[in-house]
Amino acid sequence: MAAHVSASAAKPSTAATSAFLAACRREPVPHRPVWIMRQAGRYLPEYRALRAKVDFETLTRTPELAAEVTVQPLKRFELDAAILFSDIMTPLQGMGVDLTFNPGPIVREPIRSIAQIEALPALEPKRDVPFVLETIRLVRASIPRGAPLIGFAGAPFTLFCYLVCGRPSKEFAPARTFLFAQPEAAEALLMRLADAMAAYLAAQAAAGAQALMLFESWAGLLGPREYQRFALPAVRRTVAALKAAGVPLIYYLNQGSALLPTLASLEVDVVGIDWRCSLSDARRVLGPGKAVQGNLDPAALFAPPAELERQAAAVIAEAGTTPGHIFNLGHGIWPDTDPESVARLVDFVHEH
Ligand code: CP3
Repeated sequence: MAAHVSASAAKPSTAATSAFLAACRREPVPHRPVWIMRQAGRYLPEYRALRAKVDFETLTRTPELAAEVTVQPLKRFELDAAILFSDIMTPLQGMGVDLTFNPGPIVREPIRSIAQIEALPALEPKRDVPFVLETIRLVRASIPRGAPLIGFAGAPFTLFCYLVCGRPSKEFAPARTFLFAQPEAAEALLMRLADAMAAYLAAQAAAGAQALMLFESWAGLLGPREYQRFALPAVRRTVAALKAAGVPLIYYLNQGSALLPTLASLEVDVVGIDWRCSLSDARRVLGPGKAVQGNLDPAALFAPPAELERQAAAVIAEAGTTPGHIFNLGHGIWPDTDPESVARLVDFVHEH
């Protein structure tokens, strides 16, 4: 049972009337759309109840369960979009990379050599990750209020970080030293990842995903020269291959405010912004051709209700009145967040 009854009217949306999809295209919206990065996950008691019985990997590989987890947050809150429940590392498992989750991804044999890179096969989504495509079909058939479904992948450099480093890290030193020590090998790995994620995302769109998001969680660790030499050409390659998919593309760049001028020319519809940069600055730098998504600090959900509303109002004010803002956090929601704060935030954004 939903613990919270929303005050905003629950109008079913379709692809034609979805506030989220309209905002992606910078069209006027009846209300400001909102969804939350990592909205399906450990802060929800119903997710924890399922996880007590089933490990994370099994959840991602069982379409009925992955679909159930995908819609859990939409049953509780009036969110304007769902995001596929999976992980950025799931397609790499499909390509034969031996890895486990504890809770972050641990790669058994981190990639450090040309031989390992050349041994990495191309991704064939129907063969390698059929459960993801089936999850998308199940979600589309059961989604509350006709909300649109976002498919996603890790951006090539962010996947590179986990593959080379082998585990979550603050600095991803092995991945960054690889760029300087073996630049050609690094480029080769990035291009393979770019092609694999293009195939993966195109298959998600074909299965029914109505928008596609690339998570670039760690490219903000790079200086502008390395970003432009390594991360940007790889993500450009993925994005170029997805033009034909016909759905909005979102590129989330964490800690990337210094890199935003470079992104104005990346052919995506929406840029996801973290909280370290004001949305008014981001919109000015990106120009009129991009919508923005973000950017409340996940920590703000721990403020008392009135302060949370002030913080959300500040984000909305910085986003301004020009069409093309999707409200979100600046990074994933923290596992110890109170779901009641999320309910309050979603209603506040809708009513503001
Ligand atoms: O609601 C959603 O956003 C959909 C599900 C989703 C997960 N991972 C589920 C998950 C999404 C979109 C991701 C993306 C992801 N995974 C990113 C990019 C976004 C970001 O946070 O920067 C990254 C870097 C990963 C890698 C990863 N997977 C980490 C670092 C961890 C562990 C810590 C954490 O943040 O949860 C995971 C495991 C993971 N992926 C969990 C979930 C719900 C926790 C697993 C569990 O239940 O034990």
